Amino acid sequence: MDDRLQEKVALVTGGARGIGKAIALKLADAGADVVVCDIDEDGARATCSQIKEMGRKSEAYKINVTDFDGVADMMKQVIDTFEKVDILVNNAGITRDKNIFLMDKTDWDSVIGINLTGYFNVTRNIIMPMLKNKNGSILNIASVSGLIGLPGQANYCSSKHGVVGFTKSLAKECGRAKVTVNAIAPGFIETEMTAKLGEDRIKELKKTIPIRRFGLVDEVAELALFLVSDKARYITGQCFTIDGGLTV
Ligand SMILES: NC(=O)c1ccc[n+]([C@@H]2O[C@H](COP(=O)([O-])OP(=O)(O)OC[C@H]3O[C@@H](n4cnc5c(N)ncnc54)[C@H](O)[C@@H]3O)[C@@H](O)[C@H]2O)c1
Repeated sequence: MDDRLQEKVALVTGGARGIGKAIALKLADAGADVVVCDIDEDGARATCSQIKEMGRKSEAYKINVTDFDGVADMMKQVIDTFEKVDILVNNAGITRDKNIFLMDKTDWDSVIGINLTGYFNVTRNIIMPMLKNKNGSILNIASVSGLIGLPGQANYCSSKHGVVGFTKSLAKECGRAKVTVNAIAPGFIETEMTAKLGEDRIKELKKTIPIRRFGLVDEVAELALFLVSDKARYITGQCFTIDGGLTV
């Protein structure tokens, strides 16, 4: 265990599984107490239990990030219990891939609502104490779909391009208060989200990646840990790609 995040409190959205869970565990391993929130209550509780076994404080909250008032209520409880949040990882996200002529309004609204407005909802409810304390790190999980266009992902690409813009604007607003705001743009990472693509498609996709494999959640979590640690205090407004060379 390293102690880079001793005395820090982190909140990770979508921490029940996949990239969010790996980040929550990585931050706990570095000494942070971690609030895990997810629409999947059982999954959030399971992550929370693992964190407690590591000797850190942790609470799980069932939350839909599209529910602004629900997020506000959760934040009141979080501050009552943990007194502060030093690190926010906006990670909860979904895909509803379809070509535009098949995409219905629900496909559009749900992806923009969770992947983009959800990031606003959580950040807006957490930012004031960070600005007042003159300390904080916000990390937004974007995607290579936030950097390039991909067919069948007009909704997802729009949401993730939005996340990159959100990151840059916030970095400019919050720098004076010593709050850093960065993003990570993963390529294909092995999670339930990409498992949905099916074996044949995954095999084809791997041929397009210079490193010839999907990334691991732990590889993303390692980068996340660095970006929220005190080693990265002069880095803000940046989006870091981790994609095995896919987009070079
Ligand atoms: N897996 C990849 O290849 C990949 C690549 C680039 C970016 N990303 C991004 O990384 C993030 C995590 O993806 P993942 O692959 O771990 O996905 P995942 O589907 O494995 O996990 C997503 C988590 O978010 C939660 N969630 C979904 N909707 C929610 C909501 N409305 N409120 C609260 N929680 C909600 C889910 O319950 C789940 O626990 C997402 O933002 C995704 O867009 C993933």
